[in-house]
Amino acid sequence: MEAPPFLAACRREPVPYTPVWLMRQAGRYMPEYRAVREKLGFLELCKTPDAAAEVTVTAAERLGVDAAIIFADILLVLEPMGVGLEFTRGDGPAIERPVRSVADVDRLRDVEPDALRYVAESVRKARAALPTRLPLIGFAGAPFTLASYLIEGGGSRTYARTKTFMYAHPEAWRALMERLVRTVSAYLNAQIAAGADAVQLFDSWVGCLAPADCRTHVLPHVRSLIGAIRPGTPVIHFGTGTAGLLEAMRAAGGDVLGLDWRVDLDAAWARVGHDVAVQGNLDPITLLAPIAEIRAQAAAILGQAAGRPGHIFNLGHGILPQTPVDHVRALVDAVHELSSR
Ligand code: CP3
Repeated sequence: MEAPPFLAACRREPVPYTPVWLMRQAGRYMPEYRAVREKLGFLELCKTPDAAAEVTVTAAERLGVDAAIIFADILLVLEPMGVGLEFTRGDGPAIERPVRSVADVDRLRDVEPDALRYVAESVRKARAALPTRLPLIGFAGAPFTLASYLIEGGGSRTYARTKTFMYAHPEAWRALMERLVRTVSAYLNAQIAAGADAVQLFDSWVGCLAPADCRTHVLPHVRSLIGAIRPGTPVIHFGTGTAGLLEAMRAAGGDVLGLDWRVDLDAAWARVGHDVAVQGNLDPITLLAPIAEIRAQAAAILGQAAGRPGHIFNLGHGILPQTPVDHVRALVDAVHELSSR
């Protein structure tokens, strides 16, 4: 039997229509998700495999997308390192004891394999509940983006503390990157062992770096991380604001390169070469526009992909909480209809 379209596209094989899934497809914009969150806090939800699997499956079924993504968060991996992770309503994530010195890096605890077993359990339960031909995506944060939360203590506009640490303490920075590579590769391989059919590495904030700094201080680590992932499982490498970094990200390896909306998909794909698959790249704000505009923009992106094998349709970043569910459904339907071969 032929591979499901999402997995075929990851391998740049021909597909009957362009597969589509959406980052943050399970989230607050969806009433079913908000209902689950009435009963469980965010971390509690992540740590309750039955509920996390249900959220994953409900979102995929409700939208008619070509892949499900496991319900978890890139920051879960930081909690067992002993830095104190909190999600407070409205404020986003916070690290109670951020990494500010070389000694703080040395104090980070090794993540025991069992510490994140609840995520593997969510993968197992979601995989069992999903239709056989609907692939399940596992994911993790990439070392730079995780380090930015560890060092800043939360989100940041400038990443000043992160960059300063990288420049002032290159040895400790390298030790931190290497520790994150070990932890994240083991974590992703555990998700694959539990049933994830593909994995996405979220380097959401790497685009804040100058290309030379990215090449020196980040990409060698991403390359060793991708190299440590079990062969045969497609790897999607995603970042935002990466227009100046695409060739470098491509050189780090992986099967699919995630693109945001600040680049034209056709030009970006030509730059990295058609021997890698691409994912993207609709501006998530487009989903707030009238459905006719959503369809027109989806058609334009499909036009740029020009039916070449190896395009997975997605947004350039996650769905916003104020997005109408019927607009998301309209996008999924439009992609399927307009790309049907
Ligand atoms: O895509 C999916 O549907 C799977 C679930 C998923 C979540 N977070 C659930 C979540 C995924 C893939 C993530 C990844 C993630 N988490 C990233 C990378 C992607 C990106 O957006 O750049 C980052 C940077 C995080 C860290 C994070 N988690 C932030 C900054 C926040 C707060 C901002 C926000 O949207 O609330 C979270 C919380 C979070 N993670 C929520 C969800 C559904 C909202 C929590 C809630 O229910 O209140």
